[in-house]
Amino acid sequence: MPDTPQQRHAGLADEIRRHDRAYYVEAQPTVSDRDYDQLYRELLELEAAHPQLRTDDSPSQRVGGAPIDGFETVRHAVPMMSLDNTYSQEEVREFVVRVQKLLPNESLDWIVEPKADGVAISLRFEDGLFTLGTTRGDGIAGDDVTANLRTIRTIPLRLNALGQADAPGVLEVRGEVIMTRSGFEKLNQIREAEGEPPFANPRNATAGSLKQLDSALVAKRPLDLVLYGSGEIVGGPAVDSQSGLLDALGQLGFRTPQHTWRCSSVDEVLDAIAELDRLRPGFDYDTDGAVIKLNNFALRERVGATAKAPRWAMAYKYAPEQTHTKLNAITIQVGRTGALTPVAELEPVFLDGSTISRATLHNEDEVARKDIRVGDTVVIEKRGDVIPGVISVVKELRPAGAEPFDMQRATGGQCPECGGGIAKDEQFVAWRCINKACPAQAVQRLEHFAARTALDIDCLGDIVSDKLVERGLAIDPLDLFGLTVEQLGPLNLGTDDAPRTFGEKNAAKLVKSVERARGMALDRWLFALAIPEMGRTIAGSLAKFHDDLAAVAASPLLRDVIALDTKVAETVRINPRSRNNPPKSDADKAKREQQYTGLVSEIRESLDGLVALGFAKITKENGGHPPNFTTEVGPSAAGSVLDWFASGTGRATLARLAKLGIEPRGGKPSGGKPSGGGVFDGKTFVITGTLPTLSRDEAKAKIEANGGKTTGSVSKKTDYLLAGEKAGSKLAKAGSLGVAILDEAAFLKLCGE
Ligand code: IVH
Repeated sequence: MPDTPQQRHAGLADEIRRHDRAYYVEAQPTVSDRDYDQLYRELLELEAAHPQLRTDDSPSQRVGGAPIDGFETVRHAVPMMSLDNTYSQEEVREFVVRVQKLLPNESLDWIVEPKADGVAISLRFEDGLFTLGTTRGDGIAGDDVTANLRTIRTIPLRLNALGQADAPGVLEVRGEVIMTRSGFEKLNQIREAEGEPPFANPRNATAGSLKQLDSALVAKRPLDLVLYGSGEIVGGPAVDSQSGLLDALGQLGFRTPQHTWRCSSVDEVLDAIAELDRLRPGFDYDTDGAVIKLNNFALRERVGATAKAPRWAMAYKYAPEQTHTKLNAITIQVGRTGALTPVAELEPVFLDGSTISRATLHNEDEVARKDIRVGDTVVIEKRGDVIPGVISVVKELRPAGAEPFDMQRATGGQCPECGGGIAKDEQFVAWRCINKACPAQAVQRLEHFAARTALDIDCLGDIVSDKLVERGLAIDPLDLFGLTVEQLGPLNLGTDDAPRTFGEKNAAKLVKSVERARGMALDRWLFALAIPEMGRTIAGSLAKFHDDLAAVAASPLLRDVIALDTKVAETVRINPRSRNNPPKSDADKAKREQQYTGLVSEIRESLDGLVALGFAKITKENGGHPPNFTTEVGPSAAGSVLDWFASGTGRATLARLAKLGIEPRGGKPSGGKPSGGGVFDGKTFVITGTLPTLSRDEAKAKIEANGGKTTGSVSKKTDYLLAGEKAGSKLAKAGSLGVAILDEAAFLKLCGE
């Protein structure tokens, strides 16, 4: 009897999975490309005729679905920790000794694994089905990139599909998405052929691919995966060691590190690290170090973890690869804020997997500090995701007559793009083109405005931006809001001899997404406006704490940050125990002592306010001195943002936005409730002492109503201590841990009452 469609589908799916595994995981193809294509086509035809066969775990579901608007943030069932890392073998020794001291009577078994240089991810399988794939994010929550991960052939969409070992009911596995070196080279060749900028290295290409909102595009990227860990596991056979875990992962059909070393002494660990360094140039993916892990899980439990990283593991990083090459020229690039960046044009050289021909020189001061001159032989280095940098100069090889770099001389005092004047921005050590109408800046601003992570405007790449500026159709990004399909359709993107029109379809897409941009959130707008020093993280922070652009322009938080910075600098200057500036007399010392104490308490007061709002975090108490702290936005960026809003450009931009009726909205975490829920979402409280009006139960109810929870004792995980009269040891502990302390009035204010 012939197979039913179900049976045929199951048979085909099985066969394709087997071939996929042989090809992608084992690198031992078992079928010709043609035969594989035929099987695959038959599977697609069957699914077209019987859509119910198109299940989530069908091999057809790897091609990528419809584009999505953005990624959802998902909380990890078990936090994804990072690793302490070191470049020093001595510190590896100390680490092994430290763990041995914590486990005095145990003989320790270590495992050394390659440290893959990719993007950390977690994959969740429920009853064997791949249900969720997330990035690491901040370790607590990451982006849901399931659709993109489904396109990676070495991730089984269903475990035990090929009759491997039984999978637990819930299995979270963790590892690194990587791009093979050969895949990366090929991808860049294609990009360059298509006029797209090449990726700097496989890790950037991987990260860029995972962030794509269109999984059909991701399916074309040569991504792969190496697994080395686990998250939540429910059911299944017990695994009690790293080596056992790697075996079990292999049996489930996953790719695990190709080489690992079992070691029982620190000398063996160091030998393994050295051997890995010899072998890794032959790996098909980039590695930047070795990870040393305690093998036995029960012993790991006993050693524990700090807030960020386990105490049972450490990463040893290899010194980045360096090479020599010749500096042929220094060219100047004009950025979207008008900053002039010197760029090293290098004799092309192969370094750590790719060919390097340019490197940023950052700014004139940096060039002077390293005394880099045209004609020099320079040492260049690639560091992780950082674009290649010039480390130093081989002075002995300097040709006679090589002259120090001077921006004025190099540019003749003119912007290389528009011929306008340039000026040195003392605060930022950068030279800038001061011509507001500089077309190079205008083009870059348009491109930036349209970027996927800014306002995501379709069909507005570099060529279109260039033409819009050249034709005077859009000099300022806000000019885009007046453009019509009729104006844009006939735009010639080519030359007079070889014309290439933009076309109505593209024009319509552009106009539609410009309209959509009106409703984009405040963080996107803040980022899109090309405000100096405004990265995405800062834009995100500002949008969390402000309702709209006007609120950012007049932000008391940013002013506080700047004032705090000035005060901290002042404490350093007047510190009565300063070695650089000792007091001149006993009277001077006493006066300074008093000023110092006063300043420290002023700093403490404004910090407490910022901490209570969640805008600052105290990282270390320094008893009597200003504590160490971080703020959501640092003082330099805070100054830059306020300056921009106060500048002519900033004021004109706000006025124009108001005229266009564009009012991007943010969400304050204090005051009203943000869209996510309560003001205390995810926050942990401890209540201590007697509150003036509220009972403990009432306070607890308010905390819970606003999304928070209460616990009994103060720890690093506590976000707020709500303290009343006769608060005792908890208050002291909260103070020493830098936990925000609220009295009832401040608490009620945060509740919006
Ligand atoms: S273990 C709790 N093993 O390195 C320990 N990490 O610098 C979790 N990485 O975030 C990490 N190869 O993204 C581990 N064999 C390996 C690794 C590895 C690469 C990455 C991982 C981690 C980062 C820490």
